[in-house]
Amino acid sequence: MSYPFPENFWWGSAASGPQTEGAAQMDGRKPSMWDYWHSIDPESFHNEVGPENTSDFYHRYKQDIALMKKTGHNSFRTSIQWSRLIPDGVGEVNQLAVDFYGRVIDELIANDIEPFINLYHFDMPMCMQEKGGWESREVVDAYVNFATTCFRLFGDRVKYWFTFNEPIVPVEASYLYQWHYPKIVDFKRGAQVAHNTIVAHAKAVEAFKKMKVDGEIGIILNLTPSYPRSEDVEDVKAAHIADLIFNRSFLDPVTKGEYPKDLVEILRERNMLPTIEVDDLTVIKNNPIDLLGVNYYQPRRVKAKETPIPDGEAFMPEHLFDPYIMPGRKINPHRGWEICEEVIYDIMVDLRDHYGNLPFFISENGMGVEGEEKFRNAEGFIEDDYRIEFIQEHLKWVHKGLQEGANCLGYHLWTFMDNWSWANAYKNRYGLVEVDLQKDLKRTVKKSGKWYKQLSENNGF
Ligand code: BG6
Repeated sequence: MSYPFPENFWWGSAASGPQTEGAAQMDGRKPSMWDYWHSIDPESFHNEVGPENTSDFYHRYKQDIALMKKTGHNSFRTSIQWSRLIPDGVGEVNQLAVDFYGRVIDELIANDIEPFINLYHFDMPMCMQEKGGWESREVVDAYVNFATTCFRLFGDRVKYWFTFNEPIVPVEASYLYQWHYPKIVDFKRGAQVAHNTIVAHAKAVEAFKKMKVDGEIGIILNLTPSYPRSEDVEDVKAAHIADLIFNRSFLDPVTKGEYPKDLVEILRERNMLPTIEVDDLTVIKNNPIDLLGVNYYQPRRVKAKETPIPDGEAFMPEHLFDPYIMPGRKINPHRGWEICEEVIYDIMVDLRDHYGNLPFFISENGMGVEGEEKFRNAEGFIEDDYRIEFIQEHLKWVHKGLQEGANCLGYHLWTFMDNWSWANAYKNRYGLVEVDLQKDLKRTVKKSGKWYKQLSENNGF
């Protein structure tokens, strides 16, 4: 074996409740922002497919967990849907949801698969969105109550908790770039959302520690390192600013307990700082995470600002840099994203050298493929050699980082089975297991799923 991994390395995958469970209107669940948005604007979703049924994990979890076992999982992340557990956002807990999540957790443990539970994966309950979503401090308090309820209900069995998945995405998607409902364009409101999310996170960590839950708590961040076009001072400065806005804005407060000073300065100069309440900075300072999840898909490449800012346009991050398309970059032709494997190593070195070598794991990495059915072979399963190669090439760099002392505890692929992915619905397939939308959501293990089992059994390749 050329690439052995440390003992007890986590091999598994990540998913989320809203993207897999389906049963959106069953057993007491109330709509999230996604159900609502789809009901008023189905055209915004690929093939108009909404979150109603997704992959029906709600009913098929036993079969799916058996498939996780078959594909070598020793750990698996999903999320608890706030809109299922506490359908009105605050108040009564839905016993049917407690039963469901309890059964899933028990079934994972019975199969020797460590459950990793995340508490928020873009899925704001609609009743909370009506109160202003993350712009509202009432919603922050409601979230902390939801998190505390989860710790109380499942803290006896779940050892790895995460407050948020990719919390910058709702800022980008709902407040800057109009990818997600409510499609607002307002940097300052987005900054408020970011700050309130960090406060919600820190307060949930604080509650977790006060309750003395027997486990660890962290957050999952999508780290998208910024690389300058050249070593020219202006390009380097542009890359640094993009890095501050999109990575360090969350990474620093959750690990070091404070915002990067140069980011604060950039926002202050532009009058873009959010309102910060008394005690916010103290709660952030006092509650660093135990464990970080790193989602890595692709780098961000930038250059010094060259294009003019449209007259009168309100502040956007892109006023400070331009995106840069690097000639000759490697592309995943089925998704259009750049593939640059060694970036995963750069992240590991950065965490080692600048973040106290804190424990982390790769919590998402993966390859989305549109039209993947064309790779089905004569035996009827998808022959996704490109995905195997994608994973191997990234793991080689993870291996190197580990050898050089980085504190990486595992690797989770996005994702276990093809799932519904927000406005992209089922467009890009990422799973080790195919979900056939034409055939009653039939599950078939792909070639990568068989390979992943060997990878995990051998603890390397
Ligand atoms: C990740 C998200 O960043 O990207 C997932 O955490 C999402 O929720 C995944 O499904 C894939 O996104 P897409 O747009 O390629 O389907």
